[in-house]
Amino acid sequence: MMTNFTMPVSIGSVRLANATILAPLAGITNLPMRLLCKAGGAGLVCSEMISANGLVHGSPKTAAMLRSTPAERPLSIQIFGADPAVMAEAARMVAAAGADILDINFGCSVRKVVKTGAGAALMRDARRAEAVLEAVRRAVSIPLTIKIRSGWTASGDQALEIAAVAENCGVDAVTVHPRTAGQGFSGRADWSLIGRIRQRLRVPVIGNGDIVAPEDAVRMQQETGCAAVMIGRAAIGNPWIFGQIEALWTTGTYRAVSPAERRLAMRRYASATVAEYGETVGCRLLRSRLGWFVRGLRYGSRFREGIKHLESEAEALAAIDAFFDTAVSAENGRD
Ligand SMILES: Cc1cc2nc3c(=O)[nH]c(=O)nc-3n(C[C@H](O)[C@H](O)[C@H](O)COP(=O)(O)O)c2cc1C
Repeated sequence: MMTNFTMPVSIGSVRLANATILAPLAGITNLPMRLLCKAGGAGLVCSEMISANGLVHGSPKTAAMLRSTPAERPLSIQIFGADPAVMAEAARMVAAAGADILDINFGCSVRKVVKTGAGAALMRDARRAEAVLEAVRRAVSIPLTIKIRSGWTASGDQALEIAAVAENCGVDAVTVHPRTAGQGFSGRADWSLIGRIRQRLRVPVIGNGDIVAPEDAVRMQQETGCAAVMIGRAAIGNPWIFGQIEALWTTGTYRAVSPAERRLAMRRYASATVAEYGETVGCRLLRSRLGWFVRGLRYGSRFREGIKHLESEAEALAAIDAFFDTAVSAENGRD
């Protein structure tokens, strides 16, 4: 495979270590997941989408989503909303919390969000989009980005229009997930739209959608000329994909993750989750989430069964160790 992509990427004043970015995933890209992806080689990590209304109205649960640690930086925090004044105030709070980059969600097509005029609804309301972006741009000086879909039709005309509006408003990068709002996550992302938008903008365009393996990232960059790639679903349980993409770009090859690396990542994720949420809530989350890391592996289903009633961090760590000890001894013919 022809690779050799080593362009440095900067989003406004923020220089990324490489051109791979963890996508915002609601309910998934919390601090523990972001730390793991950063360790796996991500050049930038993004928060889950955070309600601007929730922030401004002082919801403690929403405020907790701004928590970060230096180890994960640079960090992009994504907010959603449709009211320019509320978005500007939320943007100030995000900047004050120490985010390096502020991202605005133009892609969420869940009905609850769209009916408030936020998320993908902004894709068909260029005037409101402009008002939101102008207000937010005036409110904060950190780099500002938006994440868009194709729009409400497959032509991509709305995406081209919104991207141009955003650039005029001083946005520093645009991420394109080229599916229509109606598509949700079905069908295929139309990468050609990433290339069309890239040709129209001066600011960096980040390509997103359907990268499942490192080779896909190389292909997307070559086909579209995007400045960076963003990975969502393929990073779940697989934080190494970022380092593998970077290795493929720079050396033409990459290596598979070793059992020792997987064990260490799972242990770290378990401990970070308990540290973030406490043992009760943390373990409830881990009962399903630790399973992400053993998908397709031998004894994976037995592991998933065994963690259904986790009550403590110690139990989680013991289950992880037992899984790897069993797998290794089985390979050595001692099972
Ligand atoms: C469970 C889930 C949650 C998501 N949450 C968000 C979100 O909070 N903000 C956002 O902009 N996109 C969100 N997305 C969209 C992803 O960021 C990404 O655009 C999409 O999954 C396509 O990329 P992929 O093929 O690499 O997963 C979400 C997607 C999934 C599957």
